[in-house]
Amino acid sequence: WWSRSELFSLLTLCSAAQVNDVVFSRDESRFATCSQDGSVRVWSTGSFELVVQFQVINQACRCLCWSPSSSSDGSRLAAGYGDGTLRIFQLASTEMEMKLRPHQEAISAITYSASGEKTLPGSKGLVAVSSPISGATIRVIRDHKGAAINSIQSVSEQCKRFGLEGNEMFLVAGADRRVSVWAANWSKEKCDLLDWLSFPAPPSSEEESLPPSLAAFYPADPSLLLYTGYGLKKELSFYSLTKKQVSHSTSCLLLFSSVQIGRNNR
Ligand SMILES: *[C@@H]1O[C@H](CO)[C@@H](O)[C@H](O)[C@H]1NC(C)=O
Repeated sequence: WWSRSELFSLLTLCSAAQVNDVVFSRDESRFATCSQDGSVRVWSTGSFELVVQFQVINQACRCLCWSPSSSSDGSRLAAGYGDGTLRIFQLASTEMEMKLRPHQEAISAITYSASGEKTLPGSKGLVAVSSPISGATIRVIRDHKGAAINSIQSVSEQCKRFGLEGNEMFLVAGADRRVSVWAANWSKEKCDLLDWLSFPAPPSSEEESLPPSLAAFYPADPSLLLYTGYGLKKELSFYSLTKKQVSHSTSCLLLFSSVQIGRNNR
């Protein structure tokens, strides 16, 4: 297998422009890339053939996300651009379905809500919850106060076990080493803060050379959150949303064995 940087270099060669994001469809039969030159390309995973391409002129495409729809006809890609615009492309019709501008600054991370009912584009310190049908922004989350948003992820989850109402959870990881976790019920246009995590910075901070803060729900159990970033040590932390504490930390090099441990310990 290629390393992430090798894969990005290879894709950059194929696309003739710097690739900013790569996302796989749910069944992994296709993957999509977006580039500094504004293009969004969909590739077949097996043959590496270009399936479809969408081109926007003079705007870098920073991030991408597949719609959760399982039927291939309904597949859409939400793409975030350097000027704060969000575009939704429909694959079957190869058309741009929607263009909105929820942010003034570059969109750095994007996801669909788990149900596909909303899009969640993130820009400097802000996440705008928008409808991919009407284009309306129903809520702006400002809690990350100016920090770059590195990742946003949404999962289906009954939030009752965390004492909140909601059928989805989402997380927002900021470059300020803080992660917010939210419980949402979008059919009620409701979302509440579920947890708020801050990770320590190393004492001698050489910010430029430090890796970005990233977080994700553990696929087999979304009440477990994985976090990596520049903590006091180079490590991957598992945070339990039910126990409200870091349950386990490990060196990033031991990622695969630790995911196994995480599963066995549940
Ligand atoms: C979400 O809101 C809908 C509409 O009000 C409601 O019927 C449903 O029970 C809610 N779900 C949860 C898990 O709170």
